[in-house]
Amino acid sequence: MRRRLAEEARRSDLVGLAERHGTPLLVLDADRVASQLLELRRQLPGVEIHVALKALPHPALIRAVDAFGASFDVASRGELDLLEGEGVDLSRCVHTHPVKSVAELTGAYLRGVRTFVVDDAGEVDKFAGLPPDARVLVRLSFPNPDAAADLSAKFGVAPEAARELVEHCLRAGRQVAGFTFHVGSQTTSAEPWRRAITRTLQLMRDLEGRLGVEFDTLDLGGGFPVAYDEPVPALAVIAHGIRDALSAVPARYRVLVEPGRFVAAPAMTLVTRVVGSATRPDGRWVHLDDGVYGAYSNIPAEGVHALVFAASELAHRPPADEDAERAVRRVRELAYAPVTLAGPTCDSVDVIARSLRLPRLVAGDLLVSPMMGAYTSATATRFNGIEPTPIHVLVRDEQGVAH
Ligand SMILES: Cc1ncc(COP(=O)(O)O)c(C=O)c1O
Repeated sequence: MRRRLAEEARRSDLVGLAERHGTPLLVLDADRVASQLLELRRQLPGVEIHVALKALPHPALIRAVDAFGASFDVASRGELDLLEGEGVDLSRCVHTHPVKSVAELTGAYLRGVRTFVVDDAGEVDKFAGLPPDARVLVRLSFPNPDAAADLSAKFGVAPEAARELVEHCLRAGRQVAGFTFHVGSQTTSAEPWRRAITRTLQLMRDLEGRLGVEFDTLDLGGGFPVAYDEPVPALAVIAHGIRDALSAVPARYRVLVEPGRFVAAPAMTLVTRVVGSATRPDGRWVHLDDGVYGAYSNIPAEGVHALVFAASELAHRPPADEDAERAVRRVRELAYAPVTLAGPTCDSVDVIARSLRLPRLVAGDLLVSPMMGAYTSATATRFNGIEPTPIHVLVRDEQGVAH
């Protein structure tokens, strides 16, 4: 995995880009957005893809998703502004924030959104002034403590309590299109989807029978994982379990997914530079020009750890054979030393990694982290007056070389 990520990082001239554009720098490759979407479509044929814009709200991602023919999952007016700016057809988008103001809801409806999410009777009542074509999906809660972010505590109604909410919608004259859930971000097995799909389909059959309604939508949410510092099962493995559970879905249902991380994470690579280093009582500290208040915001927020390579490691072309590569790496690592990698802010929280074995680094050296597209720039702050890390969008020339 480390080898594959290093190989991918080698393909773009990251050092050249850092020299031309400065650091820190996030390098966005929209082709990776397309290849991730292609893989999702291959593994989940017939399933509609609505990319969760919150993971990487950037025009280049929007254009790639739109050109692919996929749509979006949005959660705020700001995200709708971005999509509108890129000429996206908002009527195909789903607004998935279960709790929103009447102004937010009405604004989204007026801009064309027709599918919304609710998880409480009070939220249903906010639809009172809207025409009947504003349909709702009921958000169910399926706890998953193993996920990087278990979303079931903040949102969703337990399947046992869903009937009451559906009845409330019907009394209010609001059509329930179906159900949605999120099994937790960075879910690394098909089991949580399998359980959630099976339970939701059982609920849908039961309510259709009891209440005489017909649902038409099952939304499986996001949660598809990527490999940061540990391998994760391939999408093919997870999708196999999902397809299996979906075999019980009535033909008239649309099935949706809302991938965020899976589409966005591989599309961006971070290049940082060593600002300085120091020897402290607990060992060598290396200070970078980006940190946990910036692009590495995924570390405190989600507990995920992207790999960090010294650019000098990437400059070395490994032997073709993986065992030989491992042997060479072991020898090289004898010269590596454990360091604490710190970010640029003047506080004690901004620590990216501890006891990380890296080649000797001096001020000016470059470091590279792949898999930095999801919940990185999107969740970064301006703490300490540090500007957000710029995003450079790669363009390919006629020879296919990325600049
Ligand atoms: C409603 C909803 N859908 C989709 C996503 C995307 O999840 P992921 O990035 O794990 O695929 C999120 C993330 O918070 C979400 O809240």
